[in-house]
Amino acid sequence: MKHSSLRTPFFLVDRKKMKANCDQLLTKAEQLNVKIRPHVKTHKTMEGAILQYGGKPVGPITVSTLSEAEFYSTESSDILYGFPITPDKFPTIAELNINNDVCVVSDHPEIIRRLSDFLEGTETNVPVYLKIDAGANRAGFHHTNVEEIASAAQLIEQLPGLSFKGLMTHAHHSYAARNREESQRYTYQENKNLSRLLKALQADGIYPPEISTGSTPTTMNQAEAGVSTEIRPGNYVFYDRFQSDIGTCDREQIACFVVARVAGHYPERNQMLIDAGALAFSKDLGAQHVRKEATYGEAYEFPELQIREVSQEHGLVGSDESIDYDRFPIGTLISFIPNHSCLTAACFDKYYIEEDGNIIDIWEPVKGW
Ligand SMILES: Cc1ncc(COP(=O)(O)O)c(C=O)c1O
Repeated sequence: MKHSSLRTPFFLVDRKKMKANCDQLLTKAEQLNVKIRPHVKTHKTMEGAILQYGGKPVGPITVSTLSEAEFYSTESSDILYGFPITPDKFPTIAELNINNDVCVVSDHPEIIRRLSDFLEGTETNVPVYLKIDAGANRAGFHHTNVEEIASAAQLIEQLPGLSFKGLMTHAHHSYAARNREESQRYTYQENKNLSRLLKALQADGIYPPEISTGSTPTTMNQAEAGVSTEIRPGNYVFYDRFQSDIGTCDREQIACFVVARVAGHYPERNQMLIDAGALAFSKDLGAQHVRKEATYGEAYEFPELQIREVSQEHGLVGSDESIDYDRFPIGTLISFIPNHSCLTAACFDKYYIEEDGNIIDIWEPVKGW
């Protein structure tokens, strides 16, 4: 199969780069001496999860939807549904827990009680992580609310059908870092906040079995395990322009591309039209939002070509330099690196897998909620 025979836009994965990124995390975990529970939401494929485990059977993973939990339950027996649980999802969680450990997350005692009530008579045990807000201000008990956290942990321990799995955080705010040093500061701060919390809980006789941490920026810049016992990055499989902008990876490590065709020339405004817009890239500006000239992606081989505007299927490519239109006739294929690979990959129902310039496979991500 040739790239030129494919209908555009399509999502292309450089398998060697992706494998190297996955191996980098395995080495990192070994160095830190922590377990991994990688997030699969960036790629949502079985092939990707197998790469995350270095070609071995898929171990513990984190998922973002119950569709993912169902899809992966044939290969992984230890799944964390990483979004705070709501009652509509109890039946699926109970069903999946018949053959697997499917852990849930909560920051709400009432929901914890209702889950235990729901499980009554089912002989199912659901492991529960308490979600801790260690600085991100997104979800979770604030890390300074020791009393609330302690009483929620005791509640889980006392209620039938539940077991206390530990504490989990996600340093969503680390994406505001501007460089590697700032990322490291977020990692250090998260660990400091968790460490204080842990000491206070232990003084109350509460010993969380796991301390689960990890965004891609904080994990890949983590020098010591600190209090973490498991790490859960996900974006690192592909990386993207966002991670490269904030110094988590080198541009060369980015393993995914949106391939689009030139569909129009507009020399009067120094722009070209491509057949990939917001439904191929998303509208996430990533770290670009702090820039005056934020753009939606850039051509991999021609970084001076940037996507300046997107609407549903239209993308307008501009440049600070004069575009050489002879170089990009109508129909020319251009590979773009996306700002945020998780959102971009989710726009596609198949990925073309490339190795040494050849398309060797097609992967199909799981869709839906
Ligand atoms: C709960 C949870 N864990 C882990 C991750 C993975 O983090 P990243 O996307 O930075 O790799 C996410 C991402 O949003 C998440 O929400």
